[in-house]
Amino acid sequence: MEELLRVENLSYAYPDGQQALKDINLTVYKGDSLALVGPNGAGKSTLILHFNGIIRGDGNVSFLGQPIDDKNLKQVRSRVGLVFQNPDDQLFSPTVFDDVAFGPINMGYDEAQVNDAVTKALELVGMSGFEKRSPHHLSIGEKKRIAIATVLSMSPDLLVIDEPSSSLDPKGKWDFIDFLKHLSWTKIIVSHDLELVESLCKRIVVMQKGSIVADGLTADILSDKKLLVKYGLARPERQL
Ligand SMILES: Nc1ncnc2c1ncn2[C@@H]1O[C@H](COP(=O)(O)OP(=O)(O)OP(=O)(O)O)[C@@H](O)[C@H]1O
Ligand SMILES: [Mg+2]
Repeated sequence: MEELLRVENLSYAYPDGQQALKDINLTVYKGDSLALVGPNGAGKSTLILHFNGIIRGDGNVSFLGQPIDDKNLKQVRSRVGLVFQNPDDQLFSPTVFDDVAFGPINMGYDEAQVNDAVTKALELVGMSGFEKRSPHHLSIGEKKRIAIATVLSMSPDLLVIDEPSSSLDPKGKWDFIDFLKHLSWTKIIVSHDLELVESLCKRIVVMQKGSIVADGLTADILSDKKLLVKYGLARPERQL
């Protein structure tokens, strides 16, 4: 299997001293669909911010065999598409077109290539025709699709999505799961929603207090009730 991303002995403390990651080791392969789960504050969002160099800690993070550094940062950012939990952190342009075109323009595509990339990305997320709309006046589900289009427009090798189903209604959630299922990219999905994880991911990595505490096949992890309860992912059996 081709290795896409490798994290070795990664630790990270925020500037205020909060130790968010402790000695993380993780390898992601081409074609993986991986869920990153764990209780609030486990370090999931902090970890994925390392995947395209938004933050850098102690240890190594390599993409396609190259350690992420200042020289290849721009290249890595176009190859690793990171979708934040809150689409308002990702959408800042007056029109949907401008937001989806931002990455390709930044990468130096010419006008025809930019137009082509935007058209294809909007098609993929089922949002063709929204080019002239203001991203700020869309529904949350629509905003999430546009946020994903802003990274798909660069045809990344790896798609990383933080909490794709939060604030979606049940139908919206299942529509979104169907939509994600049909995206053929290698995916890392951060979620508390085990239904979503079960239908989208082959592999689950469990984090707690800044460490990886389990890494295995979805079917194995989800059938381990003890483990799910231990790491706050399922409710303990109630005593009658
Ligand atoms: N900007 C920051 N400055 C200081 N500490 C932070 C900052 N962001 C996060 N933390 C701390 O780092 C730890 C990990 O936070 P992180 O946001 O990565 O957790 P998470 O697993 O994504 O949680 P959630 O499920 O709530 O999104 C927590 O203890 C959190 O309080
Ligand atoms: Mg988070």
